[in-house]
Amino acid sequence: MNSGLDGHTMQDRPLIGSVRGRNKHSRGIYWREGVTLPRKTRNPPNTTQTKPPSKKKKDNKEEDEPPQRDVYIILTTDLKMRAQIQKVPQILELLKKKSVGLQHFKPTSSVCVLEEKDAVEVARCPHAASRAHSLDAIPGPTNWPLVGSLVELLRKGGLTRQHEALVDYHKKFGKIFRLKLGSFESVNIGAPCLLEALYRKEGSYPQRLEIKPWTAYRDLRDEAYGLLILEGEDWQRVRSAFQQKLMKPTEVVKLDRKINEVLVDFVSRIGKTNVSGKIEDLYFELNKWSFETICLVLYDKRFGLLQERVNEEAMNFITAVKTMMSTFGMMMVTPVELHKGLNTKTWQDHTAAWDRIFSTAKVYIDRKLKRNADRDPDDLIGDILHQSNLSKKELYAAITELQIGGVETTANSMLWAIFNLSRNPGAQRKLLEEIRAVVAPGEDPCGEHLKSMPYLKACLKESMRLSPSVPFTSRTLDKDTVLGDYAIPKGTVLMINFHALGSNEEYFDDRTQFKPERWLRENCSINPFAHVPFGIGKRMCIGRRLAELQLQLAMCWLVRDYEIVATDNEPLDVIHSGLLVPSRELPVAFIKR
Ligand code: HEM
Repeated sequence: MNSGLDGHTMQDRPLIGSVRGRNKHSRGIYWREGVTLPRKTRNPPNTTQTKPPSKKKKDNKEEDEPPQRDVYIILTTDLKMRAQIQKVPQILELLKKKSVGLQHFKPTSSVCVLEEKDAVEVARCPHAASRAHSLDAIPGPTNWPLVGSLVELLRKGGLTRQHEALVDYHKKFGKIFRLKLGSFESVNIGAPCLLEALYRKEGSYPQRLEIKPWTAYRDLRDEAYGLLILEGEDWQRVRSAFQQKLMKPTEVVKLDRKINEVLVDFVSRIGKTNVSGKIEDLYFELNKWSFETICLVLYDKRFGLLQERVNEEAMNFITAVKTMMSTFGMMMVTPVELHKGLNTKTWQDHTAAWDRIFSTAKVYIDRKLKRNADRDPDDLIGDILHQSNLSKKELYAAITELQIGGVETTANSMLWAIFNLSRNPGAQRKLLEEIRAVVAPGEDPCGEHLKSMPYLKACLKESMRLSPSVPFTSRTLDKDTVLGDYAIPKGTVLMINFHALGSNEEYFDDRTQFKPERWLRENCSINPFAHVPFGIGKRMCIGRRLAELQLQLAMCWLVRDYEIVATDNEPLDVIHSGLLVPSRELPVAFIKR
């Protein structure tokens, strides 16, 4: 099922490109689930913590505000929306008679010059306020009453083609456009200067979507929230406990031994299971590889997913993660309260799956917590568990969400890297030469080797540009902000489109070509804000360094042992199913070198 959202998952994935609006500017209330929970401290702080988390000023403020509603969506429909769509013929009839408020068609300039005004707050800059145009002046596709541009989007191929439709809109309207789908409204940005402006003006606690089914489960079982769903000061507290180690390359590189341990099995499995070089359901195999790796990193536990016969515990765990993923999409597009109230099968399956995930994760986290004295030197997560001031409950939630966040994104990026190398034998040859020059025969590629492998890194960057896994992320503005020529009010949902950036000829010449060399050119002039596959700012992906290490090592192992060949040269259609995935089995084969 397509949840219509983006992000990290095993199967049906929401998360990243999704949003939550809470104030009067969030006019796009998509469905109403009653009153939002007060922003209480979701994760009770550890009693041993020296500095108690300060009471949020926001709490008081919010108590005074009228109850706010949560907005969920990204380009998707709910029941109310479907009813609205059914009314479309009547609406169109009505429109023939009356003139309607169409959004502006004048495209914004796609020229990207970062000016001071791109990054100032309206309140602090009266000049900017008087110069900047209002939200209503932002161009965008025709905004029909009730449905907005939903029908047009469906005509453009529907939800699975939403990434293409959004790129088209950027081509038509420029670096910024406004989109209304049903009652959900967003401002879409796809230019480096605007991303930079946003980055510079980012507040302390950037906000993304609340994943309601997950928070509902945590509230039900009195479990804490992890990084994917936390907000405000709680988010920052948990984030800083992990940030130091997980975002530091010199720390993360210590994980190369564990990553390699799984890669040895993966590469050997490719050798054993291929039929004439082809692997049946390569994507699933890659998911098993990334699941096994992240479990080893987080829990010090091998689940044996790459063995011929997978044991029962591993099967139960992986099935629980899959069930959790496949049930929450539905509750992103229909009110979770309803599912909970009616105790629907979806809700029952979802909670049962989370119960199993938490109970399994807790066993291994507890084991790690007990083993303090005899920890391995490369036990990065052990260090975090023992050194942070987080409560046990917070650790359970944070670690579980790292696991959820790290599986399919990494597998998907590897899938696209394999595809791009298969279609570009010249680049693959050059990569092999680099690997052979740096890693001696019979030696395991390791973190140290990667330092001398610029072409490998360029190949991965180029693959992530050309075929991003996560096409967009979101932010809800926490203050009035001027972006480009527009004053955008607090509460507006911004969609940050990585896919549009990477496929824009203005930022990448020969944009459809796989050209790792573009990243190696002397005085490489690529704007760093034109390539942000892991997001931007304080809330960027915390697993970025780990994912890059995993992917770079996997490319080393695979290309050294196998020639990756294209089995056809037909175009490969890409569909949006939370992440961007190929519409058919990848046409590649692995030929032992
Ligand atoms: C190639 C693989 C990956 C890609 C493309 C990716 C992409 C992203 C993106 C785009 C975001 C949103 C950032 C933003 O809103 O600015 C994100 C957030 C996140 N990712 Fe990843 N990710 C990957 C791997 C991982 C891994 C391996 C982990 C776990 C170890 C992970 C854990 C998370 C978490 C916990 C967040 C939320 C961070 C926060 O809100 O503080 N990701 N990721």
